[in-house]
Amino acid sequence: MRILVTGGAGFIGSNLAFALQDTYPSAEIFILDNFSSGHFKNLIGFRGEVITGDITSEELWDYLKAHFSFDAVFHQAAITDTTVTDQWVMMKTNADSLRHILDSALEWGAKVIYASSAGVYGNTEPPMKEESGLEPENIYGFSKLMMDRIALYYMKNHPEIQIVGLRYFNVYGPRESYKGKSASMIYQLAVKMMHGQKPRIFKWGEQRRDFVYVKDVVQANLLALEKNVSGIFNIATGEARSFNEIIEILNRELGTNFETEYFDCPYDFYQEFTKADISKAKELLGYRPQFSLEEGIRDYLRFIK
Ligand SMILES: NC(=O)c1ccc[n+]([C@@H]2O[C@H](COP(=O)([O-])OP(=O)(O)OC[C@H]3O[C@@H](n4cnc5c(N)ncnc54)[C@H](O)[C@@H]3O)[C@@H](O)[C@H]2O)c1
Repeated sequence: MRILVTGGAGFIGSNLAFALQDTYPSAEIFILDNFSSGHFKNLIGFRGEVITGDITSEELWDYLKAHFSFDAVFHQAAITDTTVTDQWVMMKTNADSLRHILDSALEWGAKVIYASSAGVYGNTEPPMKEESGLEPENIYGFSKLMMDRIALYYMKNHPEIQIVGLRYFNVYGPRESYKGKSASMIYQLAVKMMHGQKPRIFKWGEQRRDFVYVKDVVQANLLALEKNVSGIFNIATGEARSFNEIIEILNRELGTNFETEYFDCPYDFYQEFTKADISKAKELLGYRPQFSLEEGIRDYLRFIK
């Protein structure tokens, strides 16, 4: 089996590349990345090859079609900073590139598993279900919704290949540090507290999110490869937890007793409450999240330390 992981130098892509090389030791695994938010240090220990390139480049996809053939493409590459407001760049990179990938997959006969996002739901009523509440509030969420629309079009018109979209909720875990300010709040708060500083969060810390550990996201990707299925699925835990709860868990796990400092949220768009309905992924992918927030943070702290 020959596998392409776009965005493989990034947070989720690198975790996936390592899981693929462990699960399928004889597979040939290639990473495609432009290293804009990914980092080579995420790939120390990776035994496959890296193709350095930009997913928006048609010449790149022509080159790949001419010189390679893949059985599966895990598409993780994207502009992942949700505060970027350049609509042209966001749409070209996140949405339009998926057409190049799907057209290439049609030539190769490859399965495509791509990363969508809970950003497609904006601030609609939780629990979020795949078919409703599609009201993104920023261009990042809109670009992910357009990826889903492109994928649905190809699913309908090209049933000869399988396509799976995974709408990740708030992912945290090892190898996210190179995302800088876009890394999860769990990472940012843990590092601050481990340096002896008070945690600072937006007032009053009761915003609730469905936080999912990266190992569960990897599990979902592997199931998507194995199952004979196409479709779009929420990937989360199905539980909404608050930022105050994260700080409580970190204080307990680190043996600290920091008080929280609250400040005003500077964004006019901010997801206040996300919680996924994961019944579709459970039923059709056999997905079962293994990590509660407590278990995920405990596992992650060993890595951060
Ligand atoms: N982390 C989360 O909480 C989360 C939530 C929902 C969806 N997602 C999606 O999951 C995927 C992976 O995100 P991540 O958290 O690992 O972020 P990341 O920024 O660590 O990874 C993105 C990778 O894509 C690469 N990349 C960006 N633009 C590129 C381009 N034009 N050509 C080639 N490579 C390019 C970056 O260098 C990086 O390695 C993304 O599609 C993201 O939208 C992430």
